[in-house]
Amino acid sequence: MRRYHVTTFGCQMNAHDSERIKGLLEELGLGEAPSQEQADVIVLNTCTIREKPDTRFAAHMGNAAKAKRDRPGTVVAVGGCYAEAQRERLFALYPDVDVAFGPGTISHLGDWLGAGGEGVARGSFGTGEERTFAARLPVRRERRFQAWVQVSMGCNSVCSYCIVPAVRGRETSRRPGEVLAEIEQLAAEGVREVTLLGQNVNSYGRDLGSSFAELLRACDAVPGIERIRFTSPHPKDFRQDVIAAMAECAAVCEHAHLPLQSGSSRILKAMRRTYSRERYLRLVAELRAAIPDLALTTDIIAGFPGETDADFRETLEVVEEVGYDGAFTFVYSPRAGTEAAAMPDQVPDKLKRERIERLVEVVQRVAAGRNAGRVGMVEEVLVEGPSRTDSGLLRGRTRRNTTVNFSGDAASGELVSVAIEGATSTTLAGMQLALAVA
Ligand code: 5AD
Ligand code: SF4
Repeated sequence: MRRYHVTTFGCQMNAHDSERIKGLLEELGLGEAPSQEQADVIVLNTCTIREKPDTRFAAHMGNAAKAKRDRPGTVVAVGGCYAEAQRERLFALYPDVDVAFGPGTISHLGDWLGAGGEGVARGSFGTGEERTFAARLPVRRERRFQAWVQVSMGCNSVCSYCIVPAVRGRETSRRPGEVLAEIEQLAAEGVREVTLLGQNVNSYGRDLGSSFAELLRACDAVPGIERIRFTSPHPKDFRQDVIAAMAECAAVCEHAHLPLQSGSSRILKAMRRTYSRERYLRLVAELRAAIPDLALTTDIIAGFPGETDADFRETLEVVEEVGYDGAFTFVYSPRAGTEAAAMPDQVPDKLKRERIERLVEVVQRVAAGRNAGRVGMVEEVLVEGPSRTDSGLLRGRTRRNTTVNFSGDAASGELVSVAIEGATSTTLAGMQLALAVA
């Protein structure tokens, strides 16, 4: 049997797409290889949001080229956002690539392999016009009880730092009926937690006369689905109806990932985020008023062009004021072709690094304080498997999306009650209470 290996480089949508690539390859009769070295088909599902994943991809291509020398006949397939962004140059940059495709043209890989490489030219790339939902492809899910569900593709925002709109195209929503049919099927297969995915989930449905709030309510009504998560919402589109749906739907988790990017209204304007610091803080207050136990996480960029020390201090202030439960922090990375990459006042690397260090320190202190506040409480935990740090312990996540390492005897996929006894800036520790919740 021919074997494949898929490497995921990017976000949750990228991870979702990798599961579809695996499903497609298995339908073609391939099995999964434990490592790239043992695979006949090496798939690299790339990301290009910052320079780092681009560099990681280049390193992987070095290994893939070696695999082709050692084992002639090995196929190297490159998909994802970097492939799409570089579609004109990819085969020239990396002559070892056999077939390439973008996030909207994954099925091209199947067509190419299905044709045995015959009749379809080596170095071929799916065309952007045939963009379809990856969600319509077969799937090999990593977890029995958790699933990604794609609700839309593309992004209509124009954030000046971001390459994604150029790569993933205009936003198109999947029909609510199609999304719900998938979720009902997942529930029938034993899935208890779904994460709805879109580049901007809050603008879901506008192209269909539907809305994200309606979708949340419909998902909530599916029996067996006990947890609903979604990512990422854009603060500009987070409306009252979605807040109300979050508050009223029992399965929608008490967590919002609300990308801030900067706490300075001046920088937010240059980023074309279309909200100010004040409006963002108002949204946080509204969310907290409606959902008392809400966890908030965020994305923050340090060192955007023109960011002064005063702007950066405003970001630190907002982190303190909101009191995030966690944050992904990034050094600004210029992306060719974006508006911000051409801005004149780029921040020197040394300063960007200094700022990210200060930012991480504040984020960790704030998050550690938030987690410490959970000690003494009992949390509902969905068990995911053995702890990564101590195989004698179990690991799972709370509804608020915090990882918990705990002593207990539950099976993966079970919901249990855990008494919280300790906390770090990113995890909780505790002990399972005798009775499982369900
Ligand atoms: N540089 C640094 N971080 C970026 N992000 C997006 N584009 C860039 C960039 N050019 C971050 C944003 C976004 C997250 C997914 O990645 O914070 O929310
Ligand atoms: Fe995800 Fe963006 Fe990376 Fe594409 S470029 S994989 S959308 S993070």
